[in-house]
Amino acid sequence: MSIAHGIRTLGVLGSGQMGLGIAYVAALRAKVPVLLYDRSTEQIEKGLKFMDKLLAKDVSKGKIQDIEAKEARDRVTVVSQDQAYKGFRDVDMVVEAVSENLPLKQKIFSSLSAECRPDAILASNTSSISITKIAASTIPEGQSSASGSGKQSAARVVGLHFFNPVPVMKLVELISALQTSEDTLNRARAFAVACGKEVTVSKDVPGFVSNALLMPFINEAIMWLEKGVATKEDIDKTLKLGMNHPMGPLELADFIGLDTCLAIQQTLYQGTGDSKYRPSVLLERMVDAQWYGRKNGKGFYEYPDA
Ligand code: 3HC
Repeated sequence: MSIAHGIRTLGVLGSGQMGLGIAYVAALRAKVPVLLYDRSTEQIEKGLKFMDKLLAKDVSKGKIQDIEAKEARDRVTVVSQDQAYKGFRDVDMVVEAVSENLPLKQKIFSSLSAECRPDAILASNTSSISITKIAASTIPEGQSSASGSGKQSAARVVGLHFFNPVPVMKLVELISALQTSEDTLNRARAFAVACGKEVTVSKDVPGFVSNALLMPFINEAIMWLEKGVATKEDIDKTLKLGMNHPMGPLELADFIGLDTCLAIQQTLYQGTGDSKYRPSVLLERMVDAQWYGRKNGKGFYEYPDA
């Protein structure tokens, strides 16, 4: 029996590559109105331009009709800077997709639990941070400024981990905090399915299944480059042609963002204490140099169009 997600309006917090992708699949595939907020208006403009480009490409390839593209675009509304989180007051679910920073996410979830309706699901697209810790930052029942059913705030927090590029990747990883209710999990899963995704479930461990496996692989490739075992091109080519990976590990690290890779690796290392997760010095130095990969023009490779 399929469960109705009941999401009539979605809030998306953060309009970087992940947030924008989530807004895109929600508006186009789940056909849900989306309120999009980012504290950077420049980032929102950049994101919406990219969405227009993606929709136009889908139309030109015959994947969707012109009218579907228009309807999807019309479903996305930008929340003004004055409104900020208050703009999410009436949504049924918010997906947070800001950078991998625990204090920032805690602050956001505390504010969202105060501003949103008590029955609204609060989802995080975090790549590695504990959903239980994020849920614990919500304002407990009875202390919320929002009035309503008085549900326990932490029970509505869930991890909904999309993959980059969101419009293309078929998976969403669903993570339950210790506090997450069954109803929250079921509705979040149903929403991911409505966005056209398959769902896997992971316990709330650092990095979940996906990044706990992917990041040591990427890190190892960086260490092999550091040791001079092979050139970056040959490391990537080995995995691409030898194992049929769509991208080599260094190319993929650039694609994800080196700052994001480092933040995830730090969470894995701190969360487990296991030295196998210790980030490579080269990765740390590249992030020190603000070489973040594809998003700002330089990582292991150069991206002149960024
Ligand atoms: N956004 C939206 N769509 C994109 C895109 C983007 N950034 N980049 C590529 N695409 C689309 C293209 O438009 C194209 O769509 P089409 O079939 O309708 O024309 C399709 O993807 C294929 O693109 P290209 O033909 O240009 O290029 P490739 O065939 O080389 O595919 C790729 C590009 C899909 C990105 C492929 O290289 C790939 O799958 N790479 C691996 C990606 C991956 O592993 N992602 C997971 C990262 S880990 C993660 O996200 C977790 C996080 O927590 C860190």
